[in-house]
Amino acid sequence: MRVLITGGAGFIGSNLVHYLIRERPDWELVNLDVLTYAGNLENLAGLESNPRYTFVKADITDGDAVRAIFAEHKPDVVLHLAAESHVDRSILDSSAFIRTNVLGTQVLLDAARSLGTDTRFVHVSTDEVYGTLGADGKFTESTPLAPNSPYSASKAGSDCLVRAAHETFGMNTVITRCSNNYGPFQFPEKLIPLMIANARADKDLPVYGDGMQVRDWLYVEDHCSALLTVLEKGTAGEVYNIGGNNEWPNIEVVRLILKHLDKPESLIRYVQDRPGHDRRYAIDASKIHRELGWRPAYRFETALPATIEWYLEHGEWVERVQTGRYQEYYENQYGSRLSS
Ligand code: NAD
Ligand code: DAU
Repeated sequence: MRVLITGGAGFIGSNLVHYLIRERPDWELVNLDVLTYAGNLENLAGLESNPRYTFVKADITDGDAVRAIFAEHKPDVVLHLAAESHVDRSILDSSAFIRTNVLGTQVLLDAARSLGTDTRFVHVSTDEVYGTLGADGKFTESTPLAPNSPYSASKAGSDCLVRAAHETFGMNTVITRCSNNYGPFQFPEKLIPLMIANARADKDLPVYGDGMQVRDWLYVEDHCSALLTVLEKGTAGEVYNIGGNNEWPNIEVVRLILKHLDKPESLIRYVQDRPGHDRRYAIDASKIHRELGWRPAYRFETALPATIEWYLEHGEWVERVQTGRYQEYYENQYGSRLSS
């Protein structure tokens, strides 16, 4: 099986590369990533010499480059994760979000179709396309799309293109919509790694608004196992929600982190709320459980402390991300090979 992963140098993508290398020993993986600020090849250190793994630096919006990569590697499966993923950045400037998340998805769909409509295309989307919930209820796969941020609007746009590719051309697509992930290799601009890094350095922890927004947290390896399940067993044209049935108000997550690190709650700073801030996300993941047999394996009570410990043990990784030195890794590993 030849698998093309887009965004494999990011948080979920790099965890997925490690997971697939381990779980499917006869698969070959091509990682297509342009290495934006969120792409970090240090996450994949050691794989450079693995004959089953190839890294290709390219932009998914570059049609010529993408077509050439598809023609060379002829993937049986595309796992599409590349995206601009941070809501706060999309509020400051949405242009890269529209380009990568919408246009990039269309370029990939067209390239995949050029190999034949059988090419399985797994589109990794988000629960944020459904908008926000009140105190009760959960998002199901038939909840109408109602995105509230430029990020989620761009992801909803990409979902619609994937749906259209199935309806119009009969492409072998599946869409997944997952809740908030946590775990190793997450860029420290997102809530959990940011709070760990700040608390460790005795810096303020910025909590938006009243801190009572609720997120449904899933350990990243559970997301990886769900993606593999959907890839292998999902029905073409279907959408599968993925979630942990694990809702927490932000402020409670922040308090758990402080407690684990033995740091005072006086570090918490309530700051101006995110515009358009979704109040609550909760995923009904009964379809993927019922139809494909997937369920999460990790519990927040143990996986959150393990995640905090991972960031403590990988202080140098955090420091290289914060100083920007992680971006030298590509040149160091691949520079000489490129010029030779
Ligand atoms: P991330 O920001 O950590 O990584 C994104 C990766 O995509 C980076 O390696 C980046 O270099 C690459 N990329 C960006 N633009 C590109 C382009 N034009 N061409 C090629 N590569 C490009 O993201 P993440 O948190 O790992 O999320 C991965 C996917 O999962 C995204 O599609 C996101 O919408 C979705 N998702 C994320 C979460 C979450 O909690 N993080 C939850 C549900 C769904
Ligand atoms: O639900 C899935 C989504 O989860 C993914 O599609 C996105 O790619 C991913 O970034 C994440 O989006 P969120 O906006 O929920 O994640 P973030 O870590 O930015 O914020 C989580 C919550 O914490 C949210 O309610 C905002 C809040 N927050 C965040 C930051 C960075 C704070 O209160 N303070 C902060 O400094």
